[in-house]
Amino acid sequence: MGVLKSVSLITQDARMLDLIERINRIADSDISVLLIGETGVGKEVFTDYIHHLSKRGPYPLVKIGLATLPPDLLESELFGFEKGSFTNADHSKKGMFEIAHLGTLFLDDIDDSPLNVQSKLLRAIEAEEIRHIGGTSAIPINVRLVCASKMEVKDLVDNKLFRQDLYYRINVVELRIPPLRERRNDIPLLAKHFLKRYKPKEKLFISDEVMSIFMSYDWPGNVRELRNVVQRSSLFAEGVIKVKDLPDRFKYNNRIEKIVQACKICFDSNGMSYGDLIKCIEVRLLSEAMSKTNGNQSNAAKNLGMKLSTFRDKIKKLEIN
Ligand SMILES: Nc1ncnc2c1ncn2[C@@H]1O[C@H](COP(=O)(O)OP(=O)(O)OP(=O)(O)O)[C@@H](O)[C@H]1O
Ligand SMILES: [Mg+2]
Repeated sequence: MGVLKSVSLITQDARMLDLIERINRIADSDISVLLIGETGVGKEVFTDYIHHLSKRGPYPLVKIGLATLPPDLLESELFGFEKGSFTNADHSKKGMFEIAHLGTLFLDDIDDSPLNVQSKLLRAIEAEEIRHIGGTSAIPINVRLVCASKMEVKDLVDNKLFRQDLYYRINVVELRIPPLRERRNDIPLLAKHFLKRYKPKEKLFISDEVMSIFMSYDWPGNVRELRNVVQRSSLFAEGVIKVKDLPDRFKYNNRIEKIVQACKICFDSNGMSYGDLIKCIEVRLLSEAMSKTNGNQSNAAKNLGMKLSTFRDKIKKLEIN
């Protein structure tokens, strides 16, 4: 787990720690870094980390999303413009490459950049200088590039949607940030981190059942989704975050194989005994059946294909309410 100035990059996952290790080794060079990962995995967090760790830390970190702006506007944002270079240009303006001078330029959603913008980016990076739109003089640039992509840029190159020469320029080092579902042991760590962040003054806990749902959920929105869920649930919860405090999609998604998978992770990482593992699976199955039927024991037993008396014995023995 690392906390660097204002950047908190929380993890205990071996692959993530390996990425951090690699970053530590290259931070001080001016090597371009390409971060690849699904939405919400922490590409921007890694960018902050790289920037603040490098000797460029005291200089600006400038971020621009290449997917959000129309090409013309994007170009003027990146390279700046001279007064009178187009209608409404009643003043000149610096571009992001200049504003980031001596610092880091973060090009987000590079996979979505239009081909003509890609050509201009390549020219700027190769020549290490830019020209304002409507300007004639060359302005030298000195930035470290960090780019982020949700897709494999290599695939885009193969499909002629991304310039190969630009790809080689931006991916001197390529770092793949694994999705949260591939590093489930980060889930409790991150959940507790966000709980502390959003409710710093309160003693608020996450119930075991909620944590087991978190452990088996697929997190398509990754860490951002987890952050939002913890933030939202902590608003409703009193003392303990329970299943009822979660958004609906969490209440009905606990399928058996996912439960078993989550328990297996506990088993592998916490050195649980076999008996405890079986108990853990039973508790989760029975609790899930109860919450799905709003506490109706006959229906819950029926759903599990179990006699009502057996069901009652079990929930009593396992102290499930
Ligand atoms: N390892 C981490 N430790 C602490 N917070 C994290 C971590 N990873 C992500 N977060 C938090 O999750 C949220 C999403 O992260 P971030 O914005 O970096 O994702 P992203 O990969 O850039 O997503 P997108 O592709 O949608 O832009 C942020 O609030 C960020 O602070
Ligand atoms: Mg981002």
